Amino acid sequence: MDPRTEIALRTGNRMPVMGVGTWQLTNDTAGTIEAALELGYRMIDTSGDYGTQPGIAEGIKRSGIERGAFYLVTKVEEVGDAYQATRRNLDELQLDHVDLMLIHRPPKTGPGEDLWRGLMRAKEEGLTRDIGVSNYSTDLIDALIDATGEVPTVNQIEWSPFGYSEDMLRYATERHIVIQAYSPLTRTKRLRNEALAEIAAKYNKSPAQVLIRWNLRRATVPLPKANQRRHLEENINVFDFEISEGDMEILNGLNEHYSSLGTLPYV
Ligand SMILES: NC(=O)c1ccc[n+]([C@@H]2O[C@H](COP(=O)([O-])OP(=O)(O)OC[C@H]3O[C@@H](n4cnc5c(N)ncnc54)[C@H](OP(=O)(O)O)[C@@H]3O)[C@@H](O)[C@H]2O)c1
Repeated sequence: MDPRTEIALRTGNRMPVMGVGTWQLTNDTAGTIEAALELGYRMIDTSGDYGTQPGIAEGIKRSGIERGAFYLVTKVEEVGDAYQATRRNLDELQLDHVDLMLIHRPPKTGPGEDLWRGLMRAKEEGLTRDIGVSNYSTDLIDALIDATGEVPTVNQIEWSPFGYSEDMLRYATERHIVIQAYSPLTRTKRLRNEALAEIAAKYNKSPAQVLIRWNLRRATVPLPKANQRRHLEENINVFDFEISEGDMEILNGLNEHYSSLGTLPYV
């Protein structure tokens, strides 16, 4: 496995096993994206509301990478017209299509069938290759499927050994929905955890690298964000070690449904 390794999605399309996050990537977005692509990252996660899409477009251009060689994920907000928002995102990204378009979060009023139909139209017209959701519970995903028959390809949710759900993983696996793990480094809040640090020392890796590898081992797709080049390098240098079964059990046992953002919306 390496950062270019891909997993098969329910639609037959393919997605890299990890990506780079860009929320609050305010310090030189273009330079960071150019560096990430040079280091070997092949998936970029953004959103219409991060303010990073123009910088990502610039970073992609500077890198000279071909369109087929990288995977772009972006999101529409829970209010407004999802189809039009998709078009706006493409304009900012200076792309004719993205690989994955997500509903950023469920609207307060329900699962967001209209948003979902907007994304279905965007997919039919080739503006995005796949569509999915973010911050959705299993009940809300069921409601979308019941209303439209269209199963999301991905649910992007906060996910780390400190905060995850076996029920959600089982549900997603059964329906061939990929879990993308956001805030996989707990936004640094749990990097000093003692059990994590002990495991990291054993493999001569950093706590952040162990958190990323934990995801890869469970076939969930981590999206660590890093502004600093040394962090970008560290986070992609995770393909030369394997966490043992015993250590995976210890890591799995750290679950406290922790959220660095408040609550896990899917638990
Ligand atoms: N769908 C959603 O609702 C949603 C919500 C939140 C996040 N996301 C996505 O998921 C991505 C990742 O989540 P996140 O940004 O919340 O948090 P994160 O990736 O868990 O943590 C980012 C923080 O960790 C630091 N860091 C990165 N690598 C490190 C390392 N090797 N050692 C120590 N510290 C390190 C970064 O510092 P520097 O930046 O200084 O390098 C930054 O402060 C986001 O950028 C976004 O794309 C999606």
